[in-house]
Amino acid sequence: MAVSSPFLFFLCFTVLSFSTPPAHSQSIQLPFHPEDVLPLLPRQLAWPILNSLRSPADLLPTFVGAASASSSSSNGTLQWKGACFYENAAWLEFHNKSGSEFGGGTLHVKVSKAHSWTCLDLYVFATPYRVTWDYYFRSREHTFEFKEWEGKAEYEYVKSRGVSIFLMQAGMIGTLQALWDVFPLFTNTGWGEKSNIAFLKKHMGASFEVRPQPWVTNISVDDIHSGDFLAISKIRGRWGGFETLEKWVSGTYAGHSAICLRDSEGKLWVGESGHENEE
Ligand SMILES: *[C@@H]1O[C@H](CO)[C@@H](O)[C@H](O)[C@H]1NC(C)=O
Ligand SMILES: *[C@@H]1O[C@H](CO)[C@@H](O)[C@H](O)[C@H]1NC(C)=O
Ligand SMILES: *[C@@H]1O[C@H](CO)[C@@H](O)[C@H](O)[C@H]1NC(C)=O
Repeated sequence: MAVSSPFLFFLCFTVLSFSTPPAHSQSIQLPFHPEDVLPLLPRQLAWPILNSLRSPADLLPTFVGAASASSSSSNGTLQWKGACFYENAAWLEFHNKSGSEFGGGTLHVKVSKAHSWTCLDLYVFATPYRVTWDYYFRSREHTFEFKEWEGKAEYEYVKSRGVSIFLMQAGMIGTLQALWDVFPLFTNTGWGEKSNIAFLKKHMGASFEVRPQPWVTNISVDDIHSGDFLAISKIRGRWGGFETLEKWVSGTYAGHSAICLRDSEGKLWVGESGHENEE
C-alpha cells in the first residue's frame, strides 16, 4: 500500500545534557568551603543546608572531554576547569603490561589549583564498554589503570576517541549523598536494574511493568506500517545509569527510538535515534 502524502522524516538524536559548570565567585584559595564541612554538622542541620545549596541537576555528570594518546596531530592532552580543582589535564598512555592481545592503558590525570583545602572532585571515566570512577583530593598527578581493553572494539574506540571524562558537579559531598541514589544505577546487576526503575518512578513517575510471556515475538516486514514507533529504554548495564539520568533531565521516557516509514513504492525505511553505532 503506497503512501502518497508527504511525510516528515525524523531523525531524533539522543540529547546528552551538559549542565554548565557552577560559577565560583571567589578565585582566591579559601582554607575551607562551607559545603565541605556539611557532613560534620548534625544530620538535621546538614540536610536543610544541603537542600538549599543544591539543585538536582548539580548531581549530573558533566562531560568535560576525552583524553587520548598523543598522535602526530596533537599531544592528546585534555584541559579543563573542575568544581574543586581549577586547572586539570588528562592524557592517555597505551601499554601492554597484561601481555594480552590489545593491551591496556594508563589515564594520567593532573589536578591543581584547588579552591579550598578540603574540597575534592569526583570523576566518572567512560568508554562505550565500561564506566568507572575515581576522586581527587590532592594537587598532583594521579593515574588510573585500565588493565586490559575488553576487546578489539574498545581498543579501536579508545585509540581514535580516547576515554570520556565526566565531572560529578556537586563535588564529593553532594555526590556522596547522591551516590546512594545514583551509584547503583551504574551497576550491571539486578540491584542496578531495580535502582533504575525505582529512580524513574521516584523522580519521573514512570512505571515499568513486566510484559506477559512470550517475550519474543516474530513479526514480518509486512506487519510494519508507516508511523510505527519503536522505543527502547535501557534500565541496566553500563549505559543504563547514564540513560536514566538523561531521561530525567530531558523529560523523555525512551533512550533509543526508531520510526518506520514507507515511501511511495512501499519500501520500508527506519529512522533511528542515537549515537553512531560502530559494532
Ligand atoms: C599539550 O597541548 C596543549 C595545547 O594543545 C598544551 O597546552 C599543553 O601544554 C601540551 N602538553 C604537553 C605535555 O606537551
Ligand atoms: C601484547 O603482548 C602480547 C604478548 O607479547 C602480544 O601477543 C600482543 O600482540 C601485544 N599487544 C599489543 C597491543 O601490543
Ligand atoms: C519465531 O520463529 C522462529 C523461526 O521460524 C521459531 O523457531 C520460533 O519458535 C518463533 N517464535 C515465536 C514466539 O513464534
